[in-house]
Amino acid sequence: MSKRTLVTSALPYANGPIHLGHLAGAYLPADLYVRYKRMTGADVVYICGSDEHGVPITIAAEKEGVSPQDIVDRYHTMNAAVFEQIGISFDYYGRTSSPVHYEVSSSIFKTLYEKGVFKKKTELQLFDPEAGKFLADRYVKGTCPKCAYTEAYGDQCEKCGTSLSPAELIDPRSMLTGAKPEHRETEHWYLPLGDLQPEIETWLNSRENWKSNVMGQCRSWLNSGLTDRAVTRDLNWGVPVPLEDAAGKVLYVWFDAPIGYISATKEWGIQKGDPDLWKTYWMDQDTDLLHFIGKDNIVFHCIMFPATLMKHGGFVLPKNVPANEFLNLEGQKLSTSRGWAVWLQDYLKEFDADTLRYALGTTLPETKDSDFSWKEFQSRNNGELADILGNFIFRTISFTSRFFDGVVPELISPTERDQATLSEITRYRDEIARAYERFQLREAINLTMNLARAGNKYLTETEPWKTRKTDLQSCANSIHVCLQISASLSLLFEPVLPHKMKQLREYLGVKMCEWHEISSAMLQTGNTISPGDILFAKIEDEKIDQQIDLLHQSANSGSENKFTALSDEVEFDDFLKLDLRVAKIIQAERIPKSKKLLRLQIDLGFEKRQIISGIAEYFAPDEVLNKSVTIVANLKPRKIMGELSQGMILMASNTDGSLKLIETEGEPGAKIS
Ligand code: MF3
Ligand code: ZN
Repeated sequence: MSKRTLVTSALPYANGPIHLGHLAGAYLPADLYVRYKRMTGADVVYICGSDEHGVPITIAAEKEGVSPQDIVDRYHTMNAAVFEQIGISFDYYGRTSSPVHYEVSSSIFKTLYEKGVFKKKTELQLFDPEAGKFLADRYVKGTCPKCAYTEAYGDQCEKCGTSLSPAELIDPRSMLTGAKPEHRETEHWYLPLGDLQPEIETWLNSRENWKSNVMGQCRSWLNSGLTDRAVTRDLNWGVPVPLEDAAGKVLYVWFDAPIGYISATKEWGIQKGDPDLWKTYWMDQDTDLLHFIGKDNIVFHCIMFPATLMKHGGFVLPKNVPANEFLNLEGQKLSTSRGWAVWLQDYLKEFDADTLRYALGTTLPETKDSDFSWKEFQSRNNGELADILGNFIFRTISFTSRFFDGVVPELISPTERDQATLSEITRYRDEIARAYERFQLREAINLTMNLARAGNKYLTETEPWKTRKTDLQSCANSIHVCLQISASLSLLFEPVLPHKMKQLREYLGVKMCEWHEISSAMLQTGNTISPGDILFAKIEDEKIDQQIDLLHQSANSGSENKFTALSDEVEFDDFLKLDLRVAKIIQAERIPKSKKLLRLQIDLGFEKRQIISGIAEYFAPDEVLNKSVTIVANLKPRKIMGELSQGMILMASNTDGSLKLIETEGEPGAKIS
């Protein structure tokens, strides 16, 4: 066994809130494992944080018209809070916009550069002539060369998992303008995965006990042959490439984000007052490094990041990457754009954190895609948490309070049945541990519930409410056994139900202990326990139907969402107050220092005017020149950036966010009504 374990969960992009799919993929499984591992007394550190670079962030910022920093600040705070509420017990939740991360990722890049690992290549890359930008990664979509999926991104096909570069896409189209991209030359630094393939292969072959879905994916990439991957991009949001000749270039997000695991570990150590502590976890080879991720991240964690670490030298490489498959929702693929998702903050407004940990934990997509349904959620809660676990504990505790004054009765001359039931505790303890160690988390949870089942069955069959009148010692023995099982459950269920089990341990007066100390003697005869409340309430059909309705509503509004909702009705007289006219644009120029504004001179037939229009990002001056358009002619004149604007040009906003002129054949000055 290694001296220590370093567990990471994929750093979620800070461009949106966390939903059930995220939780089931990378966070709940890691948290279950880590909480178990901590109880074994192992030295385990659990690291995560926000992935704050990359095109998903800048696209979100552009959509909202705010800065990328605004976006990541908002979601970093929001996501950290929601993880905390659901009980994901990170030792540190960092972020890749932090100064420590800039320093660590630049220095790793520099070391690789100085070792001559990278190949510098000048290549043709996709360039959007309308936007005047190179189209990195998710700024371009097209058809996947492998599986022919038409919505593949420039960096990855989400259908078949292949990692791509934009130039490989068939029929590429710009996500910025919809334009057909051109090819232009640009220089980048490449991680030569092609040359490194033998080394990577040897290393992968030395890995033991990897899940077959993970190793299978790796093998299929190796079989088709690895290709060199650029680790830099032409973007202005990210960690600047730390070289002289790299102005306007940043590190590729998939180069810097996994390094975020290292920088977050470093910050964790700094916070603990030991700036070098991270080195113990990342440099001492006696560390088990485990990456918990969803299947779309396999190539980065099993090939790219290990290759980076290997060529740098000195770092620990992952011992295992227990990647999960995908979680579906009510039988359909989860989709945030279609509104087919359950957001954690919404869940938490209605239900309890532990209930979800249990219900989702028993349906984790460990070996194949799995499905979350609200009905199953309800039946896991009502049929298992409430009827089995909750009921068993409640019956045991309330019986003790009523008939034994809340004191643990002594076990005297137990029957074989009593002893056999007690011995189940350590048997289950060891079996559950084996499941955790093999990352079979669903199995670990089911086994734990089976102990509660066994307890429930024993309680029902030994009938202490009857023996109380006929054989008081037999009654006392039954209750003793049930109390010991309850006490062991309060520890064995700790990884799954941390909030509820803490409460239960308080009722029973049980202290947290190490896994191997869990036994059939957690409670001393004569100890007092307190009556306690019901731990798990049933969930009514109504509440579940409400959630199903909500989901369908958000999915519908999601698909209509691309069109803005209609405004409120107005009176005809109010409409007549607007004076709309035909105007011809007779002069157009950019306003220096403004990205958005054009200064237009227009001819209204009876007079000429100046209008300042915020369309410079969509139209070059000569594209609007001599066009006859529609304007609001009686708007109060106002100053925009110190320039007088007398009116407003009407535009159609397309669903993709682009703007189009409303041209007309009317003559300048003509009234539109
Ligand atoms: N942000 C990525 C995603 O959500 C995951 C990054 S994992 C890391 O798919 F290793 F790069 F940090
Ligand atoms: Zn594909």
